[in-house]
Amino acid sequence: MATGATPSTRDSWATHAGFLLAAVGSAVGLGNMWRFSYIASQGGGAAFIIAYLVLVAVIGIPLMTSEFIVGRMTQVSPAKALRELGGTAWSPLGWLFVFCGFGILSYYSVIAGWTMRYAIVAIGTGIPAETGEYFGEVSQGTDALIGHLVFIALTVFVVVGGVKHGIERAAVILMPVLFLLLIGLAVWAFTLPGSREGYSNYLDPSFGELFNRRILTDAAGQAFFSLSLGMGALMTYASYIRDKRDLGREATIVATCDFGVAFLAGLVVFPIIFSFGLTDQVGESSVGALFISLPAGFSSMGVAGKIVGTTFFIMLLFAALTSSISLLEVVVAAFIDGLGWTRKKATITLGAVAAALGIPSAYSTNFLGAADAVIGNFLLIVGGLLTSIFVGYVILPKADAELAQGLESPLFRKGWAIMVRYVVPLILAVVCFFLIAPTWAAIQTMFGAGG
Ligand code: TRP
Repeated sequence: MATGATPSTRDSWATHAGFLLAAVGSAVGLGNMWRFSYIASQGGGAAFIIAYLVLVAVIGIPLMTSEFIVGRMTQVSPAKALRELGGTAWSPLGWLFVFCGFGILSYYSVIAGWTMRYAIVAIGTGIPAETGEYFGEVSQGTDALIGHLVFIALTVFVVVGGVKHGIERAAVILMPVLFLLLIGLAVWAFTLPGSREGYSNYLDPSFGELFNRRILTDAAGQAFFSLSLGMGALMTYASYIRDKRDLGREATIVATCDFGVAFLAGLVVFPIIFSFGLTDQVGESSVGALFISLPAGFSSMGVAGKIVGTTFFIMLLFAALTSSISLLEVVVAAFIDGLGWTRKKATITLGAVAAALGIPSAYSTNFLGAADAVIGNFLLIVGGLLTSIFVGYVILPKADAELAQGLESPLFRKGWAIMVRYVVPLILAVVCFFLIAPTWAAIQTMFGAGG
């Protein structure tokens, strides 16, 4: 039975740029600001960045192109698209996507909640100078829960508006502002006395690190999370494209913007940390850099710190919101297309479910970190591995017309096919294997020692 919106009434993007900005909005998020520069500085600086870029080119862009192709081709949400194209055997992959959407949204919005709080406090009284203690107070417990709930409500508010009037409008307004604020911050950071030292700590290459196998798993995990791959988010967005366009080119643009923002964010974060001698706090955790070291820098700068701090956290909030809406949209689209729910019913109900699922993360940063390791790292890689097998062996042999239209350059098409069929599955299988032990440990943290 056909349920949900018929193709003609189904929502779609109003403009070409609208889709691109929304896809970049999904990709550019907390992951860019919080994880990238931290992992880079720990993992070999510029050497890590080169390894990361190779992975983005070899795995990220081909997989993103694959997600775009499936979405645009079927014009339905991932679970239904996989079933239509591959039979019921592929339905579970669609459910995995929905599970990951719920899972990531549930803890992502807790971090976004902290961000919101910091933005508000920075405008008002200013962030207290004892940032370590302050973070400890507000990152777990009722304060964190309230932030989480408010942020989910904000996400629901945008997604209820639909693709054109909700998601696209938010991206078109927020993303340009985000780019401007980030560039402004990077220029300002350049003028700081410790900027040179900060840059060199971020970027000084140590090529020895490249032979550490953690680099492969770290870079792959970061690429998946940052590019919003492996759970059908960009597949869902592409299902709202009506016209013909070169999807390989679109994927390259989105990946380039995502990397650009992550790289620039490092150029903001590191000079601040080194100008204010806050290096000892950076080693502790990736979140520490953002919510402990940086605010300590801001609060020691008086009025300038207030302005810069406020700007920084508002920028972060925009980045988080345009990402969280894509996470919720995956879940919402699945229920609209699969069960025939209205958008309003789906968004409000499923937003409430995500709010409830986030409670453990709001009360325990250990749980949050473990959930990120299991869902935001391992399961995305599993999802990407299965997606590449699906596209390489089920779609590729029978979708000539769509491929010819979606990948204009024959050379790109050939290279893409080789990547999707052989290179991507092989590398991801190795990464999955390496991740089994740490993932198992994280699962035990979630259900055993956590809480
Ligand atoms: N890419 C976002 C970030 O870097 C997070 C995100 C949004 C995401 N949608 C996603 C991650 C889908 C994985 C899958 O913060």
